[in-house]
Amino acid sequence: MKLALLGFGTVGQGICEILLKKKDYLKKKYDFDFNIVAVADFVNGNVYNPDGLDIPFILEQAKAKKKFTKDVVDWDNIKLIKECNADVLCELTFTDLNTGGPAIEHCKAALESGKHVVTSNKGPAALKYPEMKKLADKNGVQFLIEGTVCAGTPVINLIDGPLAGCVISKICGILNGTTNYMLSEMEKGMDYDEVLKVAQELGYAEADPTGDVEGYDARGKVTILANIVMGASLEISDVSCEGITKITSDDIKKAKEQNARWKLIGTVEKKDGKVTGSVAPEMIDLSHPLAGVMGATNALTFSTDLLGDVTIVGPGAGKIETGFSILTDILSIHRSK
Ligand code: HSE
Repeated sequence: MKLALLGFGTVGQGICEILLKKKDYLKKKYDFDFNIVAVADFVNGNVYNPDGLDIPFILEQAKAKKKFTKDVVDWDNIKLIKECNADVLCELTFTDLNTGGPAIEHCKAALESGKHVVTSNKGPAALKYPEMKKLADKNGVQFLIEGTVCAGTPVINLIDGPLAGCVISKICGILNGTTNYMLSEMEKGMDYDEVLKVAQELGYAEADPTGDVEGYDARGKVTILANIVMGASLEISDVSCEGITKITSDDIKKAKEQNARWKLIGTVEKKDGKVTGSVAPEMIDLSHPLAGVMGATNALTFSTDLLGDVTIVGPGAGKIETGFSILTDILSIHRSK
């Protein structure tokens, strides 16, 4: 499989590291072979080699924040997407939940030129999923988005796969790793600005962390779940949203005294045929299962008709954790060949 990576930050480097480390295992276990033929990044530049790039060298240059020096092309992203010989475009650029750009244009260009798209970018998924899916179907390719919700923890694929046949009436839980990490560390005594900086260094936070702390990232994920799992047609602005910026160390201390903990909770619910979504901080009793979910971990409970509640707990952010979401969708395309 020939891969093109658009965006070579945390997630792009994460998927490369996984692919290099697991090359032999993937070949042996799944008969999966790959070449990364194109990489585009606004810091490092754009490179293309139809026979495969020198990935260890590129990783080294990117980590040193140097411009790429080998296989450099002066094509812009759209030309690179259209002209390269990749089978799959991995769209891993920064999320813009207001316009979806430039990721929407990248995905469109790939789908229109007959390339599968795998993405962890919430913009195209939250703002344009029906359009992207339609374009993918028309061109006989796939548009896969596991990494947009809860990093590599299987959520979207869980619904389409193992939970297919269940009707889901409610989804509720912790959808943002950064804020859960911040609330966890603030409880241990770290202050807000200090802990946000660490979350950025660990690769949890969005390029603009306002998206995390104001709840916009979780709101994007609630919108994706509402539309894809519940079949709704919600706009991001239909989802009520409050972040954690008003929660002080004092609030956290007070919650502790009451045997409770603050969590940023995202909810999607279907009642009388109408789907609603919300994001808000909630003070949760320590006896509640979500209260024990700490750090950048996410947890989601699906209320189903056949199984009752099904809860999945796993990483919600991070380089390898989100890199894995790209691998899982790539392998799914490989299996469907
Ligand atoms: N900034 C996001 C989070 C990354 O903290 O959950 C994963 O979407």
